[in-house]
Amino acid sequence: MGKTTVSLIKADVGSVPGHAVVHEKILETERKALEEAKRSGLLIDYYVTNCGDDSELIMTHREGVDSPKIHKLAWDAFIAAANAAKELHLYGAGQDLLKDAFSGNVKGMGPGVAEMEFTERRAEPVLFFMMDKTEPGAFNLPTYKCFADPFNTAGLVIDSSCHAGFRFEIWDIIEHKKVFMECPAELYDMLALVGAKSRYVIKRVYPKPGGKLPENEPVACISTDKLYQIAGEYVGKDDPVGVFRAQSGLPAVGEVLEAFSFPHLVSGWMRGSHNGPLMPVAQKNAKCTRFDGPPRLVCLGFQLADGKLVGPTDMFDDPVYDFQRKEAAKIADYMRRHGPFEPHRLPPEDMEYTTLPKVLKGLEPRFKKIE
Ligand code: F6R
Ligand code: MG
Ligand code: MG
Repeated sequence: MGKTTVSLIKADVGSVPGHAVVHEKILETERKALEEAKRSGLLIDYYVTNCGDDSELIMTHREGVDSPKIHKLAWDAFIAAANAAKELHLYGAGQDLLKDAFSGNVKGMGPGVAEMEFTERRAEPVLFFMMDKTEPGAFNLPTYKCFADPFNTAGLVIDSSCHAGFRFEIWDIIEHKKVFMECPAELYDMLALVGAKSRYVIKRVYPKPGGKLPENEPVACISTDKLYQIAGEYVGKDDPVGVFRAQSGLPAVGEVLEAFSFPHLVSGWMRGSHNGPLMPVAQKNAKCTRFDGPPRLVCLGFQLADGKLVGPTDMFDDPVYDFQRKEAAKIADYMRRHGPFEPHRLPPEDMEYTTLPKVLKGLEPRFKKIE
């Protein structure tokens, strides 16, 4: 059996009403495209869902990462879905499809991608995290906690197969550079970078050499596509996704989820211009209604069986997270009371690609020099 590739490719191709939820017709159109690809043998398996206004295509195959065939499949599915969205006059129909012609890879074309190729273990738990109304950096804190914080992941302390720690691939998404860092040895250096989450984002996590898992096969991968940099002007937030493997030498499913349960402040929310709490919810509750938010997080868990997707289990559909949801709602309320003031509204450098500069431009002639 060859290696398995797991691809999660997402895009906002229209929703109802406004930027709230993907219409069933869109999901149906995407399922049809992926079902045909499964029948033709290109896909081993697939699962289509949504997180708020984003369509999420979960796919397994043997084509490896960055496969033009798989990316074209996703692109064509989104195009068909965008056409269905246009017929229904859905809001933002085709919003994330920024180019007219497909050029071999969806990267830089609008959709977000998280994919990994790896040797499937006999029992391979995989968690798919999907966020709406936020940015890729929203993954930094939970990914750090999951793979580097012993107060979150007990296995780092008490399981010899996790004890060596992990290797992180960090991207500078402004200067398009990357760096690898080993934890725990370089923990403080890594935090110096990834604490600045709007610039430095964790892209992948790898096992250390000499452990149970091959050192060159990632164990987590996060989408890092910055929509505003692609489009040149604001066309919506990136709404990132991440794929995390778990158990036997990796953080347990419960340790991964524990890292994501804290409703930390992320940027996005209304007009991609506000800080607010990331609320972990059941898939059916990924519905950004209050001030187009607060930002939501969904997690679907599967077991892989030779590439087949066994599941899903809707991981945050559990009353144990009611407290975190309540806390998130409380923080959302507190942040909202700041109205247009920072730190609820983002600082000027993060507003550069929103609609704000046009407003400020109109005020320019009114300014006089202070003598
Ligand atoms: C946030 C988001 C929404 C919109 C807002 C205004 O990522 O998509 O909050 O920014 O609803 O949308 P438009 O400009 O389409 O009226
Ligand atoms: Mg939208
Ligand atoms: Mg969205």
